[in-house]
Amino acid sequence: MNTVQSGILSDETHLARYMTFNLVDVEAVKDALLELQKIADGESVVVGFGLSLVTALGVEIQGLHVMPVNTAAGLDIPATPCAMWLWLRGHDRGELFHRSKSLEELLVSAFELTDVVDSFQYNDNRDLSGYVDGTENPEGDAAIEAAIVQGQGEGLDGSSFVAVQQWVHDFDMLDSMTEEEKDNSIGRHISDNEEFDEAPEFAHVKRAAQESYDPEAFILRRSMPWTEGVNGGLVFVAFGKSFDAFEAILNRMLGHEDGIHDALFNFTKPITGAYFWCPAMKNGQLDLSQLGI
Ligand code: HEM
Repeated sequence: MNTVQSGILSDETHLARYMTFNLVDVEAVKDALLELQKIADGESVVVGFGLSLVTALGVEIQGLHVMPVNTAAGLDIPATPCAMWLWLRGHDRGELFHRSKSLEELLVSAFELTDVVDSFQYNDNRDLSGYVDGTENPEGDAAIEAAIVQGQGEGLDGSSFVAVQQWVHDFDMLDSMTEEEKDNSIGRHISDNEEFDEAPEFAHVKRAAQESYDPEAFILRRSMPWTEGVNGGLVFVAFGKSFDAFEAILNRMLGHEDGIHDALFNFTKPITGAYFWCPAMKNGQLDLSQLGI
């Protein structure tokens, strides 16, 4: 019986390290993934594979594609596809550092580390803008329904698709906004995290209201803030049973339905974006059968 990489469903991590890799030697991939399979528990490290890796192995994962670049007036949503994504989760920055070094070493014959982003939980699950992030996440069975592939057969069931984007905030802009302007941008009061009826149509929670889509567009967000020097923002991470809900929401945020841009874009923008397929677990190990391994 296949199970989910449990880190996807658990928000209990204080710190994280996101690692992305390119493929450098196709011949060495299978051996490298067999090594990864020995240690990836799906909880302290969640693993996702990009289309280039799946294609290099000569297989197809139904529903996996590359994130499309997207654009609207004055807004660019970049796509930065890569072969593999590791989401290291933990509670100790030193331990995460050492673990990431070991993983890089373990995979070096086939993969080149292209990016590392450190992230953390801030002030009871707040984004660095100060707003609580994740309030309307589905929970329990609803989270599984939203984020996990079911009824597609052995090897696919229990897997998940994830969209990952690094967003950079403009903190000077945020500092220049009144509390009312910020509340109107998000559609919640920063003071008590409550939604309010008179939120404008450009408010983020109005754009993203999951129940307002047809079909409903539920995603499981596991985003975490990041900082480096004086820069910072959010690593937006959204798991889904497909990429459909993410794409529907992003399109409405960009105004593709009604020309109204999400007010988030006034103070933040994505600088990366990629899609990955996160395999299920079988007998405590990553189920790599769909990759022919
Ligand atoms: C830096 C970028 C972003 C920030 C700071 C941000 C922040 C927030 C905040 C504060 C909320 C309200 C509380 C909550 O329910 O979590 C929220 C809700 C939400 N966001 Fe975002 N968000 C960002 C990007 C995105 C993107 C790219 C998507 C999807 C394409 C998205 C989808 C959602 C959804 C689905 C909700 C819940 C809406 C509902 O059903 O009420 N967000 N976000």
